[in-house]
Amino acid sequence: MSLLEEVLVHLHDVAIGYDVPLIEDINIEVIAGDVIAVLGPSGIGKTTLLRTIAGLVRPLEGDVELAVPSRGGLGYIPQRLGLIGNLTVRDNVEMGTRVSLSRWHLPFFPVPGKQRRIAERAMEDLDILTLADQPVRILSGGQQRRVATAKTVAQRPKLVLADEFLGELDDDNVEIVMETVRQAIDAQNSAMIMVEHHEELAKEVANRIWRIKDGRLIEELVR
Ligand SMILES: Nc1ncnc2c1ncn2[C@@H]1O[C@H](COP(=O)(O)OP(=O)(O)OP(=O)(O)O)[C@@H](O)[C@H]1O
Ligand SMILES: [Mg+2]
Repeated sequence: MSLLEEVLVHLHDVAIGYDVPLIEDINIEVIAGDVIAVLGPSGIGKTTLLRTIAGLVRPLEGDVELAVPSRGGLGYIPQRLGLIGNLTVRDNVEMGTRVSLSRWHLPFFPVPGKQRRIAERAMEDLDILTLADQPVRILSGGQQRRVATAKTVAQRPKLVLADEFLGELDDDNVEIVMETVRQAIDAQNSAMIMVEHHEELAKEVANRIWRIKDGRLIEELVR
């Protein structure tokens, strides 16, 4: 490993799961710039892996070290997107920018101009600006996925965890979303760990593959 590599995540002898382990002996590092795709069958523990890295689930064994800013450093696009259906697209995306505001900036105050422009840019990049004033609940599945991505991009995180966020998108929109996320990753020198069911797509967009099989995480080199 070069000294210039910035390690953002380090899992050391980690076992994950709830009562019984789902995946054991996980030893991995995530370096700034990485786009990692997690592959494996349904129910194997992919979402649990992301939730453990995010600190939402405690590891059964070992240590999870995260080297990202505690405020807003982690962007999580959950499998069930975590948007607020009754709020507009704009309100949801602007929520992503609120982590950079002082805690005295109450949730019902409009965000300042700078944050508004960041959110506007993210909506433009993800081609949802025309939907900005619609409530999220009336949007299609693919549109909602782009809103969740815009919200996370607007947050400018150091590490993005994305759980099947390319699902329900057509080819053009997969390209739009990946291009936007990749630009965001480059701009911040961040990294992304994404769970992806489609193997071909995963290999197209990721530089590393983690395959989950028989309770183990196996790294496969892409390029
Ligand atoms: N909060 C929980 N408490 C106990 N068991 C859970 C909990 N959440 C998930 N599980 C179980 O852990 C296993 C792995 O679930 P997980 O959601 O990580 O799978 P996954 O690989 O993401 O599957 P999918 O591809 O279907 O999303 C499943 O058997 C699931 O029932
Ligand atoms: Mg899952």
